[in-house]
Amino acid sequence: MSNAEIFEKVISHCKEYGFVFPSSDIYGGLTAVYDYGQNGVELRNNLRQYWWKSMTQLNQNIVGIDAAIFMHPKVWKASGHVDGFSDPMIDNKDSKKRYRADVLLEDHQEKIRQKIDKEIDKAAKRFGETFDAAMYRATNPRVMEYQAQIDRIDAVMKEGLETGNLAMIKELIESEGIVCPMSGSRNWTDVRQFNLMYSTQMSATDSGEDSLYLRPETAQGIFVNFMNVQKTGRMKLPFGIAQTGKAFRNEIVARQFIMRMKEFEQMEMQFFCKPGTELEFYEFWKAQRLKWHKALGTADAKYRYHDHVKLAHYANAAVDIEYDFPFGFKEVEGIHSRTDFDLGKHEEFSGKKLRYFDPESNESFVPYVVETSIGLDRLFLLTMCEAFAEEDVDGDTRTVLKLHPAIAPVKAAILPLVKKDGLPELAEQIYNELRIDYNVYIEDKDSIGKRYRRMDAIGTPFCITVDHDSLTNGDVTVRYRDTMEQKRVKIEELGSLLHAEVSMSTLLKKLL
Ligand code: GAP
Repeated sequence: MSNAEIFEKVISHCKEYGFVFPSSDIYGGLTAVYDYGQNGVELRNNLRQYWWKSMTQLNQNIVGIDAAIFMHPKVWKASGHVDGFSDPMIDNKDSKKRYRADVLLEDHQEKIRQKIDKEIDKAAKRFGETFDAAMYRATNPRVMEYQAQIDRIDAVMKEGLETGNLAMIKELIESEGIVCPMSGSRNWTDVRQFNLMYSTQMSATDSGEDSLYLRPETAQGIFVNFMNVQKTGRMKLPFGIAQTGKAFRNEIVARQFIMRMKEFEQMEMQFFCKPGTELEFYEFWKAQRLKWHKALGTADAKYRYHDHVKLAHYANAAVDIEYDFPFGFKEVEGIHSRTDFDLGKHEEFSGKKLRYFDPESNESFVPYVVETSIGLDRLFLLTMCEAFAEEDVDGDTRTVLKLHPAIAPVKAAILPLVKKDGLPELAEQIYNELRIDYNVYIEDKDSIGKRYRRMDAIGTPFCITVDHDSLTNGDVTVRYRDTMEQKRVKIEELGSLLHAEVSMSTLLKKLL
């Protein structure tokens, strides 16, 4: 099955099993806006909770806030978003499709990278065990030429974007022979910048003076609350403020399901530190965040770091954590060393001091900031892509979501084998016991095999079957989702079994 087919399957699975629906579905949907269904909301809440606890519960010096979506219009002037939050867009005159120019170039680079990988795979087969991939990369003329092409694109793109020379970007697209994926033509317009913020009004009268923006990132809510939290929490540097919440961007190019949305959720943490120490904390958070991702059980090779070519206007170092989606490696999270840019600008625009008084050195200064910023919806998509599997079981295809048990929407299903002889009543007792602590499910319809398959499809780690022996022996059959192994467990031990396997602490422990 091709990667594109796998991705199509993941998307239809999301709809069929109540994970993600198009927004306003009965009206035909709304481009790049989605709703989460009954299983999706549980999974998403669990992912958010994993992030939240790993930040605020595991770190004594990180606290959370929840700032409003509406903010004073000056915030976005100060942050640079009014003047600089735009994407370089290019249109294809034949297909009338609009693309982000930098994404076209990055996709093109990815194709060249895949050519390198192919060359290396071929050579590995040819040379067998003695093959040294690093040496081959450094010496094979064809691979070196491909790499030089990637580096050349990086360099021109960086210069064009940093200096605002968009003609350079257009020339690069043309000289690289990049064609429109829809029309296949090279008939491009000039590259232009589009601001991504949505605006609305504060009051009923649209005077133009009170226009507001829907926040395009949650980070600014943290910056403007820096002094509030520092003073009321008596926080000492270094310390962090974490926040999760909705953000809005007028993404012209909506792509790949919930990968790029107009309304999405971010989970951001700003770590305030002494100037000069920021790169040390940048390295720390870079490593720590990757560890957090991998604790969910994803294979190492599925992640990579990608250093930013074009540094955002606020950063002196920046890296993306990328995941190998079915459509290639793409950003899931950014770690940015934002210097004192944001607090400095808010000082300037608000006229209020945003400084930290260091009792040791008797100095006050504007702290530096290292930010970790992850999109919850993109993490959700990663999780679904990673978990989705189709397996051949006795000539049948079993679709299963191999989610880490701690984030699975439903932790266990309690299934009476038949609808009589007191089995439903015993199942109900077990359900009532477990539902206080866990999201559990009870069902007596259909054959046990069909019920197992439905639970596999939503990633339920345990099925607990109540049978006639349960009435006399006080035990039940517990079926493990991934291995499909079954074992007898005493009813009174079910709570501790679930605690050991599905509680969030199983994940959090891996981060210490
Ligand atoms: N405060 C920094 C910031 O917002 P960003 O790289 O623009 O940085 C951070 O966004 C993360 O937010 C991204 O890594 C991505 O996971 C998520 N994100 C950004 N735009 C998104 C969109 N349109 N749809 C879904 N997720 C998005």
